[in-house]
Amino acid sequence: MTEIDAIPARGRRGQVGGPLLPAAEVDAAVGAFLRTSPPEKRWDTDFSFDWSRADAGRLTEGERSAVQFVTIIEDHLPGYFALYDQNFPVDDSVDRETFIHNRELYHFTVRWAQEEDTHARALARYQLAAGLAEQQELWASLADEGRKHFDLPYAQAVQFFVYPLVQEKATQIYYQHLRQVVGDPLLKEILVRLSRDEARHFSFFADMVGRYLHHHGDAVVEPIREVIAEFRMPLADTIRGYWRWALKIADTARYDHTEAYDHLVKVVNRAVDARSDKVDELVSFVRACGQLGPRL
Ligand SMILES: [Fe+2]
Ligand SMILES: [Fe+2]
Repeated sequence: MTEIDAIPARGRRGQVGGPLLPAAEVDAAVGAFLRTSPPEKRWDTDFSFDWSRADAGRLTEGERSAVQFVTIIEDHLPGYFALYDQNFPVDDSVDRETFIHNRELYHFTVRWAQEEDTHARALARYQLAAGLAEQQELWASLADEGRKHFDLPYAQAVQFFVYPLVQEKATQIYYQHLRQVVGDPLLKEILVRLSRDEARHFSFFADMVGRYLHHHGDAVVEPIREVIAEFRMPLADTIRGYWRWALKIADTARYDHTEAYDHLVKVVNRAVDARSDKVDELVSFVRACGQLGPRL
């Protein structure tokens, strides 16, 4: 067996199927996203907070648990980032036109990944500075979850934008709920930064999904429906005791991804001028899923 054969197949996926946007559309969406964070507005774990103020003594048990939970979710960034690398390769496995598309998208994914990595680092730093955790035990617990494989086994390119549209909006809303209740002002500041970033990430994915609908119409409706039908927040299938934990943190601040569904409906309505039967069905379906709430 060669070294290449030993790499599990899941690490070597090729270009995902389904229609792509023209590179110019991706470029427009990526440019708009990058312009939402001018240099003077960017923030950083090392320079933007006074870590000496961190005080876990001001947090309830539920708030502490919520911080630990979201640190694990944010810390899984390598797994999320790898999905885009695997499904939109930037190498000789794709033709030139696809490469140009993927290369433009990559301008987004690296910036997005850098921001998500900053979220993970800020939350971990908070845990240490506030006295919530010790370095070695934090590394060990994050590694236990971080090593687990995360996959979105989608067959269509558009699905890799629909999933994060919901997930980013749900995370933004959750951070907004959480920041309203937490007792440590420094943690509030961190959550403000995080929720603003998640809102910008949502806007990019919403822009992409809108462009897909505008450009490809009914051809992308079923793939979008599939994502909502099977939606689970990241790591719901891998974190030990996830549902018990999700219910517990929901006691502190509402954690419900279906709150994001209205935003998907708005994206669909804005993108489609003349609604087809298929689009109507999609909107009804997404609305119905929103009314059912999360399947806990
Ligand atoms: Fe994040
Ligand atoms: Fe995000």
